[in-house]
Amino acid sequence: MESHQSKKQGGQPLRVGIAGLGRLGARHAQALAYGTRHCTLVAACSPVAAERAYAAEHCGVQQLYENLDDMLANPDIDAVALVTPTSMHAGQTIAALRAGKHVFVEKPLALNVEDCEAVLKVAEQHLQQVAMVGFVRRFDPHYQAAQRVIAQGEIGRPFIVNSQTCDLNDPEGFFVRFAPTSGGIFMDCSIHDIDLARWMLGKPRALRVFASGTNALHPALAEHGDVDNGLAMIEFEGGARAVLYASRTMAHGHETSTEIIGTAGKLQIGEHGAKDRILRSDGHGVRHAVLRDFYERFEAAFQAEMAAFVAACRGEKALELELADAVEATRIGLAITKAYRTGQVVEVG
Ligand code: NAI
Repeated sequence: MESHQSKKQGGQPLRVGIAGLGRLGARHAQALAYGTRHCTLVAACSPVAAERAYAAEHCGVQQLYENLDDMLANPDIDAVALVTPTSMHAGQTIAALRAGKHVFVEKPLALNVEDCEAVLKVAEQHLQQVAMVGFVRRFDPHYQAAQRVIAQGEIGRPFIVNSQTCDLNDPEGFFVRFAPTSGGIFMDCSIHDIDLARWMLGKPRALRVFASGTNALHPALAEHGDVDNGLAMIEFEGGARAVLYASRTMAHGHETSTEIIGTAGKLQIGEHGAKDRILRSDGHGVRHAVLRDFYERFEAAFQAEMAAFVAACRGEKALELELADAVEATRIGLAITKAYRTGQVVEVG
């Protein structure tokens, strides 16, 4: 997609409205209000009164909306960040683009390929506007460094990506309530690893997938065709393979890690979920403190992601991440979900 020209380049700060102020939206709102250059958070939208009050009290937002269409009708908003339930992403992205706004939308773009393609079509009719999906790991300095090393040929030809997204067990089971709109563990968690695998391997075409899974602690997920521990394998054209693991039940903390094996070396990113560089040795053993959640792990990347969105909207720097990447991630994530539910090998369409 072409780079975007902005009404705001070099001038006034980008005026952003946010929709969704839940677990992640409240964090994005903070980043947009206080942590991102050249932008102001001017509006917030949520059907929940307490969330609108949060935006007013904690982010200094004055224009509050219960309904997204009303926020989109405001001509004084240049861009929107959609941090709403996944099942709403595609329709809201299309509405925002048609209203003339730049759009940041959280991952995944949609829960079916048709909806993704509908977004892509509308985005192609609005090339002057940015449409960006929040694959936050693309903005993590460690993943970026690894990708550069690979692109420079330093590990030869990469052919295996072994990547996991593992969350600390939540005994309250937030994600069980989240299951009807999340698309399940592969669409919700492994989608990041799918995008990473494509990025690290140079975007080969996915041919077919296998999957399995188990419910170790949260059997209620089975009612939604979901699991709390999911395993998948992707075969790519040209011989590269990805092995993915996602878990909601880690006992120790959040552990996102990726290994890329090439013909002349391998890289490991984020092994063991260590919170810092302090290794403590005492009578209990030798250990690190552990990361608690995805935000603690990726806070810097979330900030960089918003900075990249604002820079793209202002026409300062084009995004490398394309909407088409989000379409492919959904296509593969859905094939994996089908492979898990049917127990069959699934060809990626
Ligand atoms: P959440 O359930 O905590 O928040 C959803 C928010 O959307 C709530 O504030 C809710 O009031 C609001 N909402 C619901 N309907 C709305 C509507 N019609 N208009 C405006 N707001 C509406 O969920 P969470 O965990 O914050 O996830 C939100 C999205 O962010 C999901 O798509 C999820 O996949 C994504 N996410 C991405 C992560 C990443 O690593 N990039 C991590 C966590 C979540």
